Amino acid sequence: MPPRRVSVTGAVLASLLALVLHVAFNSPISPLPLPLPSSRITPNNLLKTVDKLGEGRLEGPEAVCVDGEGTLYTATRDGWIKRMQPNGSWEDWKLLGGSALLGMTVSMTGDLLVCDADKGLLKVGEDGVITLASEVDGTPIRFADDVVEASDGSVYFSDASTKFGLQDWILDLLEARPHGRLLRYDPAANKTSVVLSNLGFPNGVTLSQDQDFVVVCETWKFRCLKHWLKGEQEGKTEVFIDNLPGGPDNINLAPDGSFWIALLQLRSKWLDLIHRSSMAKRVLATLPKLVGIMQRIRSGAMVVNVASNGKITRVLDDSDGTVMFFVTSAMEFEGHLYLGSLHTNFIGKLPLK
Ligand SMILES: *[C@@H]1O[C@H](CO)[C@@H](O)[C@H](O)[C@H]1NC(C)=O
Ligand SMILES: *[C@@H]1O[C@H](CO)[C@@H](O)[C@H](O)[C@H]1NC(C)=O
Repeated sequence: MPPRRVSVTGAVLASLLALVLHVAFNSPISPLPLPLPSSRITPNNLLKTVDKLGEGRLEGPEAVCVDGEGTLYTATRDGWIKRMQPNGSWEDWKLLGGSALLGMTVSMTGDLLVCDADKGLLKVGEDGVITLASEVDGTPIRFADDVVEASDGSVYFSDASTKFGLQDWILDLLEARPHGRLLRYDPAANKTSVVLSNLGFPNGVTLSQDQDFVVVCETWKFRCLKHWLKGEQEGKTEVFIDNLPGGPDNINLAPDGSFWIALLQLRSKWLDLIHRSSMAKRVLATLPKLVGIMQRIRSGAMVVNVASNGKITRVLDDSDGTVMFFVTSAMEFEGHLYLGSLHTNFIGKLPLK
């Protein structure tokens, strides 16, 4: 019955056309294929042996920092800055609100500098909270992510994406176009400027021990850049480390001048396929349910220690994430590593020996 076949074919074609039009006009992203690194690590599961600090009290403590007295600070998804005294007692210190508190550091003044992805760069002290930067050159800071302070008072911090906010970070990864920036807040002038732009989800920011360069980690480029602040190379930018076995999140300077980088485990066989195809990503991004599923794909946890010459010297992981899951930061203090995560309810503490 040829006429019937024609109508079925017609219906299929019409549906396909409708889908193509739907995707063309509704996709929130205009993606590029994403090159993925080849590096693989043999699991050692050393992160499974952590002590759990503040268990049950901390909802997604993304970052950790410590002040001169040894008091540990973290920010949680319920909008609190919480702190642990050296004697181990916890205190809910300041309620900032929101759910977007990310990287933080202790300033020379004793205040905290905190990235609120939604609000920008904040200063938090006993007296209250001040917004230091919420825009740069007339454009809003959409996704303040991590921060470090130099001894001259300059504050370097990342704006992970000018296109997608924290809730939509997965779309930035799918789009794979560099929308991020490294910013510098100058406290004397009360002014923020752009240091580097076109970065692929700039996340962790830290300074070298001599403060001669700043390192900024680009999550979905699986690499960190170094930008020279002093010396002959001043103003130049080069790759510090690439082909990382995970997407770098926060980076922290260790006391010996090396760096601890938390690596997000965001890959899976089918995701690797998706990343290769712009069309697949364009379609996927129109389907909120699938995007939601993708956002939940993550496995285990990994941190690496990287020497100042950019070579990995140590890897610690939890390959299936049953203890330490989705570690977002690693900070070394007095012979221990303190591990933050967006998906635990504690901070991991691990002796380094
Ligand atoms: C721990 O130290 C804090 C601040 O110094 C103090 O307020 C608290 O009472 C101490 N807690 C214990 C159990 O010693
Ligand atoms: C700094 O500049 C911002 C506007 O960019 C302003 O809202 C704020 O009051 C200024 N702070 C100080 C201390 O001058």
